[in-house]
Amino acid sequence: MELEKSRDKVQKKPVRLIAAICNNMGMGKDGTLPWSLPSEFQYFLNTIKKVSRPGNMNLLIWGRLCWNSHPESMFPMDNSLHVVLSKTLSSVPDYAHFLCRDFESAVRLAAEPPLADIIETIWILGGRQVYEDALKHPWCDLLYLTDVMADFDCDAFFPEFDRELFKLQEKFPDVPSEIQEENGIKFKCQVFKKETTDTM
Ligand SMILES: NC(=O)c1ccc[n+]([C@@H]2O[C@H](COP(=O)([O-])OP(=O)(O)OC[C@H]3O[C@@H](n4cnc5c(N)ncnc54)[C@H](OP(=O)(O)O)[C@@H]3O)[C@@H](O)[C@H]2O)c1
Repeated sequence: MELEKSRDKVQKKPVRLIAAICNNMGMGKDGTLPWSLPSEFQYFLNTIKKVSRPGNMNLLIWGRLCWNSHPESMFPMDNSLHVVLSKTLSSVPDYAHFLCRDFESAVRLAAEPPLADIIETIWILGGRQVYEDALKHPWCDLLYLTDVMADFDCDAFFPEFDRELFKLQEKFPDVPSEIQEENGIKFKCQVFKKETTDTM
């Protein structure tokens, strides 16, 4: 009976990944991005901050290194609550709202009271382990993956994923479909949609 009650309180939320990767699936070097693509970064910010109505928020999940690599000037961020994942930190980092020890605890924050009524989307911002956990999660439905069409020296890589399960969409709302170019680097914003999503 108690178990049933606690299940009733869980509200399923979409878990969505967002990343930019270059030719060899590289995404980072020395704790930061290997490229400078300000308009791609703006697209990233616009996407993760978007909500359908005032008062709603998104929950953003960050690995510790990823969190550290972002400048304080980015915060506070509209419509966003931030969870940092770490097993070593002992307190919530400045500008973040929550510290979690594992991925599922972070997801549950968004799905249970008191946040469940205001959270729309759980955005996964990396790095690698966090993306791996998210790709396996039953609530994961979309992968926003910008293809940076160039070679860069990287030491952090996006995980392989099943391209039969996550299908590339030809067009997707609010996602530019044409190839763009900035600082001499071509890139294309893409969305992969999971063919089937489990329900709880
Ligand atoms: N191009 C892109 O779109 C993009 C996106 C994301 C990241 N990046 C790049 O990737 C690099 C950072 O990624 P990374 O994979 O090296 O590091 P990361 O995931 O940001 O940080 C790793 C740390 O996060 C914590 N962590 C991760 N998963 C966890 C989990 N499931 N449970 C508990 N703690 C967890 C652990 O912290 P503790 O050691 O404290 O336990 C772990 O050591 C940077 O270069 C960044 O710029 C690029």
